[in-house]
Amino acid sequence: MLRAQCLRHPLEECGPVNRSAKQLSQTAVAHPNIALIKYWGKADAELNVPAVPSISITLDALATTTSVSFDARLETDSISLNGLELDADSKQAQRIRDCLDQLRVLAATTCCARVQSHNDFPTGAGLASSASGFAALVVAAAAALELELSAADASRLARAASASAARSLYGGFAELPAGQPGEDVAAKAIAGVEHWPLEVVIAICAEGPKTTGSTQGMLDSAATSPFYSAWIDTATADADAARAAIMGRDFPALAAVAESSCLKMHAVMHTTRPALIYWNAATVATLERIRSLQQAGMDVFFTMDAGPQVKAVCGPGHGAEVQAALATVPGVHRVLHSGLGGPARTCDPCS
Ligand code: PMV
Repeated sequence: MLRAQCLRHPLEECGPVNRSAKQLSQTAVAHPNIALIKYWGKADAELNVPAVPSISITLDALATTTSVSFDARLETDSISLNGLELDADSKQAQRIRDCLDQLRVLAATTCCARVQSHNDFPTGAGLASSASGFAALVVAAAAALELELSAADASRLARAASASAARSLYGGFAELPAGQPGEDVAAKAIAGVEHWPLEVVIAICAEGPKTTGSTQGMLDSAATSPFYSAWIDTATADADAARAAIMGRDFPALAAVAESSCLKMHAVMHTTRPALIYWNAATVATLERIRSLQQAGMDVFFTMDAGPQVKAVCGPGHGAEVQAALATVPGVHRVLHSGLGGPARTCDPCS
């Protein structure tokens, strides 16, 4: 990986070498995405290349807003998340610096940056905060440095930090293909919001951060789960079926393959050593409630990630009814309702 680590600049020069400015700032907003066909496993751990294709929907009701200022007077990168300064030695801060370094190389600068990021939803709890976080970081930093990146270029840079972030560059439906070791894959758009305005209801089943992060969990699964090879072998067929169901707006077909992908991923997680059990009692109670809604004829299916929250994907117009049904499940703290969101973008002002 190329590195352009940050330095203080005595001449107060920042940005590309042919420009001079004390400060280059931009703000961007990005939404988390929820995978319907799950990413779990790396073909290349160092470059963060996924071993399986994944397909997601981007949510409009949750957002990360990130401001990045490259400033010649700074001696180090300074990073705050939800108003708290990150410990410079933390893994999280290192991942953010690595991502900024990639952008500094492209802009031929070594200026340090001030990053201020805010999530309007729980962080690190299986609600894809790293996806929206890195998508917003790449878009804000690239704009601050006046780099003209295509969405695919921005998606590649976000993927290197967090593979699911590659999908949050796009609104509506997005797909991140599997790659080979060393392959710098990018996500691409499959369909826009208007193609099929699905709704998502999120049952918050616990508020705290998750116990095992996805990076370590994926490495442990590949090394220890006897189901891992079956997971890899069936992923492409699942992605093909989901893409066809999305293009044909076939809700039962999408429900069947998405629930299967989610449960296969959790079967791999459950059979990893040490076991990755992200569910709690409220998670299971919510799955049961969704099953009864399905039996009553409702267009709804479930999916879950590396956390206890249950995401109920609903046919257009069914979200409010599903939200009311999930709000009364024992152990559910609160219920969020979202439509599909747009792409990561710069904003000024950002509301
Ligand atoms: O991109 P990461 O390392 O946060 O991994 C995300 C993995 C899952 O959320 C569990 C599945 C997915 O495809 O988003």
